[in-house]
This record gives sequence, C-alpha cells and structure tokens, in this order.
Amino acid sequence: MSKTHPAKGSEERKAACLLAAATLAVASASGAAAGSPAEVTFLGAPSSAETIAAGEVLYAEHCAACHGENREGQPDWRRRLDTGRMPAPPQDGSGHSFTHSDAHLFAMTKSGIEAVVPGYESDMPAFGDILEDGEIIAILSFVKANWPEAKRIFQAGLPGMDTGMSGQ
Ligand code: HEC
Repeated sequence: MSKTHPAKGSEERKAACLLAAATLAVASASGAAAGSPAEVTFLGAPSSAETIAAGEVLYAEHCAACHGENREGQPDWRRRLDTGRMPAPPQDGSGHSFTHSDAHLFAMTKSGIEAVVPGYESDMPAFGDILEDGEIIAILSFVKANWPEAKRIFQAGLPGMDTGMSGQ
C-alpha cells in the first residue's frame, strides 16, 4: 500500500499507531481507575462477583433461549429472517454488543431496541416489566465479564461510556 509513497505511507502509519496507542492508553487508564483493566464495570460502577453470578442465573432464565446457552447467538445471526427482522446476535463478544455503551445495552434490554433506534422493528423483547433494573445490570455485567478483555477495553473507550449518554 505504501510502495508508491513510502515516506507518506510510513508517516500515516506512524500517526495511526500513535492514535491507536493513545486510544489504548485512555482505555486502559479508565480500566485501571476501576481497579484493573480486567475488572468489570457497568455504568461506571464495579460489578461484584455476586452480581455477575446472579446475572449468569438470570441470563439462563431470560436470555439464553434466543441468545444461546453459551451466548453464541442464533444460527446464521447476520442473515435477516424472512420476516425482515434480525436473529438474536451472540453476547459472547463475537457479535456487536461491545460496540454499544452500557447505557444503550441497558436501554435496549429494558425497553427494546426501539428505545435506541426509534421506529426499529425487532424480535428482541422489552424486559422492563419482567426484570428489575438491578437484574438487568446483573445480566449485562455477566455478559460483559465473559467478553474477551480486548472487547471490554474497546467498549470502555466508546463515546457515552463516561457520561451514560449516546454512543451506540
Ligand atoms: C425472544 C428472543 C429474545 C430474548 C428472550 C432475548 N433477546 Fe435480545 N435480542 C433478540 C433479537 C432477535 C435481537 C436482535 C434485534 C435486532 O437487531 O433487530 C436481540 C438484540 C439484543 C441486544 C442488542 C444487540 C446487541 O447484541 O447489542 C441486546 C443488548 C440484547 N438483545 C440483550 C438481551 C438480554 C440481556 C436478554 C435477556 C434479559 C435478551 N436479549 C433476551 C432476541 C431476544
């Protein structure tokens, strides 16, 4: 790619590397502030081992039927169904959950995808009448605890993770 403009290419690469390093530094710094980058937080608060364990039970009860016992998602989850709606994506870090801020994950679970994408039609139920807020936080803490650490670090750097606002 840089063969025709070696100097320019390497400058660009350097800039991209510096940017990536800066982004990672910010991400791991915010992780470190909460204890260690491996520590799981939800909406800025550390998730305890008890919360994560409770979330595992609730996940099996309320989410596994669609998102998979091992959070692997529905088969062929990237392909739209005949109904025009999307299958349930994985929650194990191989889908796109980690590209959504905590506030959005919470809103989508509590009020449905429509809460974040107005007018969107989806098979994802709204759990606001079924689960307490704390139960939703426990489930999503469990889900996040089982993402590969790199996905948690990526998510920690999303816009809206510090303010609880925006950031899909
Ligand atoms: C009846 C099936 C069903 C159940 C049960 C279900 N989901 Fe979903 N969920 C879906 C579908 C289908 C989508 C994809 C929606 C779309 O893109 O249209 C989805 C999408 C999502 C998303 C947004 C996409 C993503 O991965 O970021 C989140 C977050 C989510 N579900 C969390 C949960 C949680 C947490 C539970 C349990 C409390 C749960 N879901 C239970 C079907 C379900």
